[in-house]
Order: sequence, then structure tokens, then C-alpha cells
Amino acid sequence: MKIEDYLNSLPENILSGEDVQMPDNSFREIFNLVDLKKDDVFYHLGCGEGRGLSIALEEYNVKKATGIDNNQNKINIAKNHLMKKNLEVELVCEDIESTEFEDATIILFWFADEKIINSMMKKFERLKSGTRIVTIWGPLPGCLPDKVRFPYIVNTIPFKKTSSLQEQVLAVFGVKCIDFVTAWEFAERYTKALGSNIENDRFLTIIQTLTIWINAKNLGVSCGEEIPESIKTYINIMKTHFDIDFECLLEK
Ligand SMILES: C[S@@+](CC[C@H](N)C(=O)[O-])C[C@H]1O[C@@H](n2cnc3c(N)ncnc32)[C@H](O)[C@@H]1O
Repeated sequence: MKIEDYLNSLPENILSGEDVQMPDNSFREIFNLVDLKKDDVFYHLGCGEGRGLSIALEEYNVKKATGIDNNQNKINIAKNHLMKKNLEVELVCEDIESTEFEDATIILFWFADEKIINSMMKKFERLKSGTRIVTIWGPLPGCLPDKVRFPYIVNTIPFKKTSSLQEQVLAVFGVKCIDFVTAWEFAERYTKALGSNIENDRFLTIIQTLTIWINAKNLGVSCGEEIPESIKTYINIMKTHFDIDFECLLEK
């Protein structure tokens, strides 16, 4: 079975990341990374059930916190949760592409959908200088991040544009090219940061590692031309024991 077919067999909400709830500690790591303070205006785009907003208000005392989500049910849960705590928050049920957030100083934006990211880039570019946008896993397209503690990435207005993919790889991963060890280390950081409730996370780490390395190879930013022995071994394990084929991802 090709890896794409395996992924397509998973429930839609798992695949889209729609219902992934970030652990509380991941929010704290992000807020510490950006040094969230009481004069900050925080927006959580795709705020889900509002845990990030509640931590920003209660533990970091931000001046204003706004959550946007297009799922009414999640917004209702967030309202209940935050009202019970008597926290003053703005919760809006709408598409983030229609949202205005010019007063933001910090925005949390965890989206992987290319169409949404590209349309949001136009809005982000109009924000005031110094506004920071935290993305998870990758920087905003064509931009050099300001600060990285993988998988958390801080992009600051005005964006610094990259001249090459290698430059972006260096800024995000701290290396000039991706080898097996880098792919594994960063896959593990990602699963640990966002998957506290995921059982079988070693399996997920292997899938992520192979995906990172193969993408790097296809983009010309892996180290060397040869496929490393460890990558070959894991490709074989996935094929032999799980009937999942990764070789089809490798561009000839
Ligand atoms: C962490 S975000 C990321 C999900 C997204 N599918 C991605 O690209 O990874 C998930 C949250 O965003 C919300 N959401 C998804 N698309 C949205 C949109 N266009 N506007 C507002 N909220 C959205 C979902 O209801 C969910 O609570």
C-alpha cells in the first residue's frame, strides 16, 4: 500500500489536524519563546476550545485575547470554559480569511493548508512592524524566521525574505542539509510537542522521519546523493512489516 493510500485510510479529522488539541505545555513553550507579556494583544487563529487563550490570559496576563474558529461547537465550548473562569475574551466564529486583526502583537497560526496560508500571507504582510506570527513545523512561505525552537517558529513583520531553500533549512533546522539524524531528531520533537496523547508515537516518528528525509531529498536539500542506510532500513521495515510503501515518494 502506498503511503498516500495509508494516510487516506485514516479518519479525515486526524489527517487534517482539525481536531488536534495542543497540550497546555506546548502553549506555555510557545508563549515563553515569544516572551508573551501583559501589554500584548494575542490572537489565536483556529483557537479550537480556547485552552491557549485561557493560558495567555491567566498565566501571562495579556492585555487582550481573541480567538477565531469557524466551528461553532468549539467556540461554544471555549465560551463556556472561559466564562466559568470569568476571563474577558473575544471569541468569534468565522473563517480566519475574513478576520481583521490589525491590533495584534502576537498571532498563533497553526495551519498546513497551502491555500489558507497563501491567502493569509497578504493579510500578515499588512500588519504593523514588530508583530510576531508563530507557526508550527514550518516558517511562512519564502520567509526567514526570526526565532526557532522547533517545531515552533517565530516570523516577525516585516518578513525577511529567503534567497534559497537551503537558507530556510539552515534557519529552521540549524544545518545546511538534512541527514537521517536531523530528520529523526526533528520528527521526534514534533511528535513530542504536539502528541502527548498519541499512543504508538515511535511509529509516528518513523513516518515523520521518512517524510522529512524524502521531502528533503526531492527538494535537493538532503545530505549527499545516496539514500542513508538507516533510511533504507526504515523504508524496508515499513514495507515488510506494515505493508506501507515509501519508495513511491522518492522522485527518480
Ligand atoms: C490547529 S487548526 C489547524 C487545522 C488545519 N486544517 C491545518 O491546516 O492544519 C485547527 C482549528 O482551526 C479551526 N479551523 C480550521 N479551518 C479554519 C478556518 N478556515 N477558519 C477558522 N478556523 C478554522 C478548526 O475548527 C480547529 O479548531
